[in-house]
Amino acid sequence: MTLFTDQKESGRCSVVVLISGSGSNLQALIDCADEGGYSIRAVISNKADAFGLTRAKQAGIPTAHLSHLAFATREEFDSALMDIIDQFEPDLVVLAGFMRILSAAFVSHYAGRLLNIHPSLLPDFAGVNTHQRALDAKVTRHGASVHFVTEELDGGPVIARHSVPVTQTDTAESLAARVLQQEHTLYPKVVAWFAAGELRMTESGAQHTRIPLPDTQDFD
Ligand code: GRF
Repeated sequence: MTLFTDQKESGRCSVVVLISGSGSNLQALIDCADEGGYSIRAVISNKADAFGLTRAKQAGIPTAHLSHLAFATREEFDSALMDIIDQFEPDLVVLAGFMRILSAAFVSHYAGRLLNIHPSLLPDFAGVNTHQRALDAKVTRHGASVHFVTEELDGGPVIARHSVPVTQTDTAESLAARVLQQEHTLYPKVVAWFAAGELRMTESGAQHTRIPLPDTQDFD
């Protein structure tokens, strides 16, 4: 099998994770790191009280906090953030509930090695309040997507999606919880693909060495 990168040969794929909050996806990534063939080198948050920082410390992973409030512009914050990230020389940067819009310079610096997870079946419901919008639209299935990040918000090439049913009694909260459970298997799966050298971003979208993308799995 032809691999897209030599990560498999050169050792474990190094990952930096960016968070702003609870970090339940980060926890799933930590728990699956050995099996997935990657190593989380650092966790960085723009919020000092993000519980994900505690999760990282408990796992012995270096952490950093950089407040966006200390910078006059988005570009200055992103530049300082890049300086911290690059100290860890990551093969991959993973956004896991990082609640910031990224500048063009940031996205271009990490092009092809920057992933995000979004709580909807993209391209449906890009942006915020996805669960309530899915209920309002009366969809029968909802879910989460992992995609390469480009300058278009939630618009980069979709790699994989996990879908769940929407029930008649669902609230935005109950639906969010069902989707989040799927996020916790979806994200480690995609990061493991990248770590194995099986995944890359091309001009025509995301490509896997063996699997047609976007890979969409339904969970009932
Ligand atoms: C998840 O719903 C993810 O899809 C979105 O932000 C949330 C992060 O949750 N991007 P957590 O911090 O990983 O628990």
